[in-house]
Amino acid sequence: MAARGGFSSRLGFIAAAAGSAVGLGNIWKFPFEVGDGGGAAFVVIYLLFCFILCFPVMVTEVAIGRKTQKNAVGAFNALGFKRWNVVGKLGILSGVIILSFYNVVAGWAFGYFIEMVLGHFDIGQRFGEFTADFIKVGAYSILFMLATSYIVSRGVSGGIEKASKILMPALILMILSLVVYSFTLPNAMAGVEFYLVPDFSKINLAVISGALRQSFFSLSLGMGALITYGSYLSKKENIVSSSALITLADVGMAFLAGLMIFPFVAFNSGGDMSNASGGAGLIFVNLPGVFETLGGAGVVIGSLFFLLLSFAALTSTVSLLEVPVSYVVDEYKMKRSKATMIVAFIIFLIGIPSLLANGASDLFGRFVTYFNANSPTDFMTFAGHIADTFLVLGGSLIVIFAAYVWKTKNLEQELSEGYSGFSNSFVKKYLRFTISYLSPVLLILLFVLVVLSNFFGINIG
Ligand code: PFF
Repeated sequence: MAARGGFSSRLGFIAAAAGSAVGLGNIWKFPFEVGDGGGAAFVVIYLLFCFILCFPVMVTEVAIGRKTQKNAVGAFNALGFKRWNVVGKLGILSGVIILSFYNVVAGWAFGYFIEMVLGHFDIGQRFGEFTADFIKVGAYSILFMLATSYIVSRGVSGGIEKASKILMPALILMILSLVVYSFTLPNAMAGVEFYLVPDFSKINLAVISGALRQSFFSLSLGMGALITYGSYLSKKENIVSSSALITLADVGMAFLAGLMIFPFVAFNSGGDMSNASGGAGLIFVNLPGVFETLGGAGVVIGSLFFLLLSFAALTSTVSLLEVPVSYVVDEYKMKRSKATMIVAFIIFLIGIPSLLANGASDLFGRFVTYFNANSPTDFMTFAGHIADTFLVLGGSLIVIFAAYVWKTKNLEQELSEGYSGFSNSFVKKYLRFTISYLSPVLLILLFVLVVLSNFFGINIG
């Protein structure tokens, strides 16, 4: 093990990084973004973004982390470009914002686990009441933050790695079984059609921007999470193939989650998909009723589902907390346990408005009205938009940094460690083209469009 702690194996790194990527973003957020984005057309754009734009960003982040063995800010300093560490700082800020609301939703997932154990299948219809009960939901989210802190304070190879290796495969199996079940239900095909048959006339700027934000969020990119995890990776490992596996695992999970949810939505609505845009409540409203149809097995399957979802969220919250904690530990030489406690506490406090944004407080529930919007946006959704937008900006800056400041040849040198055939490979040419030209140009262009569409209501198409 390296002096500052490291993953004990390649599988350990992949499991932990995939554990970071796979989480509420795949099972909670992806389906409702697809619903809001009009269905299959969103899915197509999302897939293109993940493979063409995001994969090169992931490779770059991991390479910077492994080269420097530093946290998201220290990495830029170690390469000798101190001014660029503002990209790392932006990343830490994004991580703090994301964790502040993500932890609230993770609390909902855990709360639903308890509700399922108690056999309360009607909780789906009472979702609004559930989220408005901020004492109860607050307690769940405190519990969640404590669990996250416990794992982070024990360090990467102790906690993160072990948990991910067992829980990820269990979650995949669970979702696969539910996909099979969803296909047997009446009206399932209306859901499948909504999800898989694209209507390209639905594409507009808002859809493109939603898909771009979602692809960064889902792959945990643009905020230095993978710089941090890469810093624990051994030189013997192949960064390119590991990143490809992580991308595939993450995209695969999101895709399966959609394939599971939309037939369920169609089943609950009698085949009417006009209300598929369920927002943050989509899975929480739709799933419990479906578990009820399973009779006695419903309690077991429903509980297991939300328990596994909570664990998937946990491996992501761990990575979100790890980014600021490793920064404080490395740069301020603070003890890991103390740093974890302080950072987690601050993030919990920042999350309180999100906790109150779903029924408990009108101020945070109707927080801001975007230009041209008909109705206000709640604080949690707003925080999500800000954070995702920062991720796209952070990701753009990271590839620009790698290509033009650190220089492609240094990046390539790092990528060839652990990948002997790299210098003659097609992958090298592909990455050089995307990282030097395609990603910076497209990302910056898209970033501007995201801001215009999200916050100024400007839409094309
Ligand atoms: N990728 C996680 C998910 O999809 O649930 C969320 C996330 C984790 C985003 C870590 C960013 C990050 F650095």
